[in-house]
Amino acid sequence: MTLSSRPQVHGLFDKATWTVTYVVHGGPGTACAIIDPVLDYDPKSGRTHTAAADKVIDYVHANDLKVEWILETHAHADHVTAAPYLKAKLGGRTAIGEHIRTVQKVFKGIFNLEPGFLQDGSQFDRLFKDGDEFRIGDLHGHVMHVPGHTPADIAYVIGDAVFVGDTMFMPDVGTARCDFPGGNAHTLYASMRKLLSLPAETRLFMCHDYPPAGREIAFESTVAEQRAKNIHVHDGVTEEQFVEMRTKRDATLEMPVLILPAVQVNIRAGEMPPKEENGVAYLKIPVNAL
Ligand SMILES: [Fe+2]
Repeated sequence: MTLSSRPQVHGLFDKATWTVTYVVHGGPGTACAIIDPVLDYDPKSGRTHTAAADKVIDYVHANDLKVEWILETHAHADHVTAAPYLKAKLGGRTAIGEHIRTVQKVFKGIFNLEPGFLQDGSQFDRLFKDGDEFRIGDLHGHVMHVPGHTPADIAYVIGDAVFVGDTMFMPDVGTARCDFPGGNAHTLYASMRKLLSLPAETRLFMCHDYPPAGREIAFESTVAEQRAKNIHVHDGVTEEQFVEMRTKRDATLEMPVLILPAVQVNIRAGEMPPKEENGVAYLKIPVNAL
């Protein structure tokens, strides 16, 4: 692995979903990747809008960037992806981890999706497997499979920057939940150790921040800082201790507000379900099934 390059990383925090969208690039006028973009979705009205995604577009234009990739770390449960909107406006190829197929299969069952819904990941332009390499202009990237939160989570390593998705959060927040379908705390612990084995100075970029009272939003850390201070997985925490903590804590957490709409859209790479004969697309709510 090379940490030789130090890409520029611009994080846009979305207040409604506590999500950070990143634009990573080699400087103005170069190629870029957009990571985990947000499409605004109002669950009360069922309407989408593009204020968050338009901020990404503004940044891309202001820096004269060429979008090569629109990358997802996983099928998010807390926001709808804006990947199709950004692809239409800016170009680029969409990608996610290959184990999205497992996630598609699980949720096709839960939502009883139409027979034509494919579970082969073909809705995305590229499916990455562990160790796959890719380029963003002159920047070199590779993929680490980091399951546990979901079976499909991947982290993107781009130069000295790692986009960790929903594995760990800032040191005072800890780690991601493991109680969604296919989640596993043992697996997340192993993924975490893998990430924290990277060089100490590696920059780590979180997918979310849920700051404790009194702390400003923050989403950048390092391997050294996480190993020293992460409240759930600092050095010395054993797998057994982690799993016990995570399992107890997950039992107290409510489902994310947007899990039902978000998952249905995100497993389709951000496309809405097929329109019904009246020209309207519908999202389903499974009753007493999740
Ligand atoms: Fe997530």
